[in-house]
Amino acid sequence: MTRRSALERCHAKLLELLKKDKEPQAVACRAPGRINLIGGHTDYNEGFVFPITISKDMIIVAVPNSSKIVKIHSIDFNQTLSFKLDNFEKDGSWMDYAKGVAHFLQKEGFSPNGFTAACLSEIPIGGGLSSSAAFEVAVGHIFRQTGDLSLDSEKLAMIAYQAENVYMGISCGIMDQFISALGKRDKALFLDCRPPFKHELVPVPLKEHKIVIFNTKIRHAVKDFINIRKDECLRGVKLLQNHLPRIRSLRDASVNEFEEFKSTIPQPIRKRCEHVIRENARVLQTVNEMKRGNLKTVGELLYASHESLKTLYEVSCSELDFIIDHLKIEDGVVGGRLTGAGMGGCVFGLVINKYVKTIVDTLCSEYEHAFGQTLDVYICDIPNGVEKLKI
Ligand code: GLA
Repeated sequence: MTRRSALERCHAKLLELLKKDKEPQAVACRAPGRINLIGGHTDYNEGFVFPITISKDMIIVAVPNSSKIVKIHSIDFNQTLSFKLDNFEKDGSWMDYAKGVAHFLQKEGFSPNGFTAACLSEIPIGGGLSSSAAFEVAVGHIFRQTGDLSLDSEKLAMIAYQAENVYMGISCGIMDQFISALGKRDKALFLDCRPPFKHELVPVPLKEHKIVIFNTKIRHAVKDFINIRKDECLRGVKLLQNHLPRIRSLRDASVNEFEEFKSTIPQPIRKRCEHVIRENARVLQTVNEMKRGNLKTVGELLYASHESLKTLYEVSCSELDFIIDHLKIEDGVVGGRLTGAGMGGCVFGLVINKYVKTIVDTLCSEYEHAFGQTLDVYICDIPNGVEKLKI
């Protein structure tokens, strides 16, 4: 589906909801999903991440109303839900994400208006490409447009993050909302996940490449296993503090310090700490190599990240490893790794344009042969973060 046709479907649905043929005041926006080039499971350890936007969007078309009611039709769920801007009680539906955004907007002193809207996700829902973060960021952007709120992109990202982390109680880091709100065309976002969240956009020289995403469609309960890993990392911090009292999180320990004291940390905590500490170092190295245009080393770092997520952090699975092992032996692949939380979901590869078709064809058929399941494939560029769309 092209962006124009997604937008037209949302607009048509909105007119249907409003029972009108024409609605001159409609506003619209798109917010992209993401992959994380590198920095797996470092964000909630106050570490470094290096995500990019992908050309798959959450699209919302809306008109303001004066009733302080937010009403949204989801084309994906074929469901219309609503809530009042003075009642933020959760009901377990997808609308809770929007309630969380409205709740934190009010907490920050904004007075959002009600609106009626239709939304559509090109980002596979629950596939590890941040459809929920894109929805939160897009809803925040619609509140900004319909209520004329002076909300900059960073504030929008923080509000969307609080909606997911505090309101929904999902132990994610800040990465997903930041990249969807602050991403820029052909750039990656180097983000320090310790407040004040310093960030820098770094050009990604991928003119002759595509980002090829393979979706295994294996679902996982992210909340459960991220909480377990988070806990293991916190226990690692406590143990390291016996030797290094200055450290507040794993991000403060260097690889050399870890090597010096690792024998005092029992397994599996030691493996978890080793992954996070070395992954932070890999992110810093990737940023430097990207700035130098050295894609070959970037690719090696991506594969090293995947290996560490597999053996030390233990969040991969045989399907994801199968894809990576295949990418490693193909011509025309710079590198790749699992993206999102892991245990299923997606893997991406950075692939030279002329090899994309052959790689996709062979990998899909070999995967089907090995697992009896099909892969979904998305061939993406790096677009801008959230932005207004013309109807
Ligand atoms: C999930 C979370 C992110 C991040 C990744 C792992 O996608 O939403 O914040 O922690 O897992 O890198």
